[in-house]
Amino acid sequence: MPAPLHSALLAPSLLAGRHTRLAESAAEVAAAGAPWLHLDIMDGHFVPNLTFGPQMVAELRRETPDLFFDVHLMLEEPQRYAEAFIQAGAQLVSFHVEPTLDHHTLLARIRALGCQNGLVLNPGTPAEAVEPFLGEVDLILVMTVQPGFGGQPFRRDMLDKLVRLDALRRDRGLTFRLEVDGGVDPATGRECRAAGADTFVAGTSFFKSPDRAAFVREVATW
Ligand code: DX5
Ligand code: ZN
Repeated sequence: MPAPLHSALLAPSLLAGRHTRLAESAAEVAAAGAPWLHLDIMDGHFVPNLTFGPQMVAELRRETPDLFFDVHLMLEEPQRYAEAFIQAGAQLVSFHVEPTLDHHTLLARIRALGCQNGLVLNPGTPAEAVEPFLGEVDLILVMTVQPGFGGQPFRRDMLDKLVRLDALRRDRGLTFRLEVDGGVDPATGRECRAAGADTFVAGTSFFKSPDRAAFVREVATW
């Protein structure tokens, strides 16, 4: 197995936090030592659920200034909202490859606004769908559940997609991060790490962990 390109890092998902106390949940993520905070933005169209808007992200940004905000847009029209989330303090904005839009232009626009960009694949979307964009991204996010809800079981059939994307990354001499999201816990996360992932979203397993700081530290050893 080739050596990993990046050290492994945890991005706890605020979706599994306490929604009437989101700032406290974000502070708990920072206190556990996690470097990133994953923020799931849903529009009720691309996914059958609703979550947070830019104002929520801006206020969380002020209360937890040291976390890297990894904003995952599950939107039918991400081009309408990406800039608002960047102004709110996102350091990385990812959006899905499935909706019809000019992905090249939006990837470039996010970078031009001083933010990292990412492209996301649903479980049913093959690795080939993002191949034309690999030279333009800071991160590829492989969904390991159907997006919309936390707490779903990990899709082991996504491991081959990670292997394929990691191979393409190496073949082309690229260094984008390879992130996984959905059903990630210490066991499934290690399987993803072996398949090439380096960035791990964890909602349920992080907030339910009896020792969150130990969880964060252990990810670095995966
Ligand atoms: C699902 C979201 C995930 C979610 C993961 O649509 O994109 O980020 O928070 O939750 P868990 O870790 O509970 O599967
Ligand atoms: Zn997510």
